[in-house]
Amino acid sequence: MKVYLITGGAGFIGSNFIKYLLSKGENTRIINVDKLTYAGSLDNISFARNMGNHIFIKEDICNKREIDKIMNNFKPDYIVNFAAESHVDRSIEDSEDFVKTNVLGTGILLQSALKYGIKKFVQISTDEVYGSINKGLFTEESPLKPNNPYSASKASADLLVQSFYNTYKLPINITRCTNNYGLNQHFEKLIPTVIKHCLEGKNIPVYGDGKNIRDWIYVCDHCSAIYTVVQKGLIGEVYNISADMEMQNIEIIRFIIKEIYKLLSQSDERKKYINENLIQYVEDRKGHDRRYAIDASKIKNTLNWSAVQNLEEGLRKTIRSYL
Ligand SMILES: NC(=O)c1ccc[n+]([C@@H]2O[C@H](COP(=O)([O-])OP(=O)(O)OC[C@H]3O[C@@H](n4cnc5c(N)ncnc54)[C@H](O)[C@@H]3O)[C@@H](O)[C@H]2O)c1
Repeated sequence: MKVYLITGGAGFIGSNFIKYLLSKGENTRIINVDKLTYAGSLDNISFARNMGNHIFIKEDICNKREIDKIMNNFKPDYIVNFAAESHVDRSIEDSEDFVKTNVLGTGILLQSALKYGIKKFVQISTDEVYGSINKGLFTEESPLKPNNPYSASKASADLLVQSFYNTYKLPINITRCTNNYGLNQHFEKLIPTVIKHCLEGKNIPVYGDGKNIRDWIYVCDHCSAIYTVVQKGLIGEVYNISADMEMQNIEIIRFIIKEIYKLLSQSDERKKYINENLIQYVEDRKGHDRRYAIDASKIKNTLNWSAVQNLEEGLRKTIRSYL
């Protein structure tokens, strides 16, 4: 039996990863440690409620004593660290919790992983650690140049994880993925905000000129990539994860408005207000990165992973889940 310690498993990607792991039907035990901040919800893991091989523990990864007890009790083979403060806008307002959870929390998990001799520690990081790029793509060798407190805290965690490999040979991998969308994402993020505001006839706020480019991946594709890295990733390596679906924010917003309109029945009253007039340009985010773009050929070529969901259909699925 393989024992996984999943942190942040009541959040968006963590809960999807747990669903993915359970769907594999392997002999696994999942210990899900989540503080249940505003971003985490037990509703996200309701599918696992009656499953004997999923154990939920409400705990803060910064609580060294309790993390030690959990590690000692369950002796996990793998730690997959999703737990994080994840919203850039909040980090610009106040960075304290970002530094605590994303840096200190990761450090506590690493020390515990070392003490209990785990098989692998997988750090779930982000393409945002590389910063913004106007043309071309960042590879795993590109220098880290984060531009906001969120991405700076994630980059710091990445360096700490790499230092545990270099110093102690702790078996690690780091994954750096692009923007996710799909089921269970918190309403504060771009795509859920656009869908919600559109359905409620509220203005859809768009930062700056709306031409910032993000690369989008369906959350289930991200989960299959993480699983691949857990199983086959070479120790000490970093893997970029992308589905190569770049789009300007304004384009994605227009697409969602059009699709919601099409998906509603002819008689639906909401059709009266669902159009591009809902778009409202607002003052740009401070230090807003223009474009994130990474080269994911390493995971594709060496671990034989690829994304399967195209953006348009993935967005339709996501919209339908809100309807
Ligand atoms: N969402 C994306 O587009 C994206 C892209 C690339 C990487 N990532 C990374 O993936 C990870 C998960 O992102 P997400 O979008 O699911 O985030 P999320 O905000 O939806 O979920 C984070 C989860 O972590 C928990 N948590 C926060 N602080 C904690 C603490 N101190 N102790 C224990 N649990 C704590 C929260 O309760 C929540 O359940 C993050 O590390 C993020 O940096 C996200």
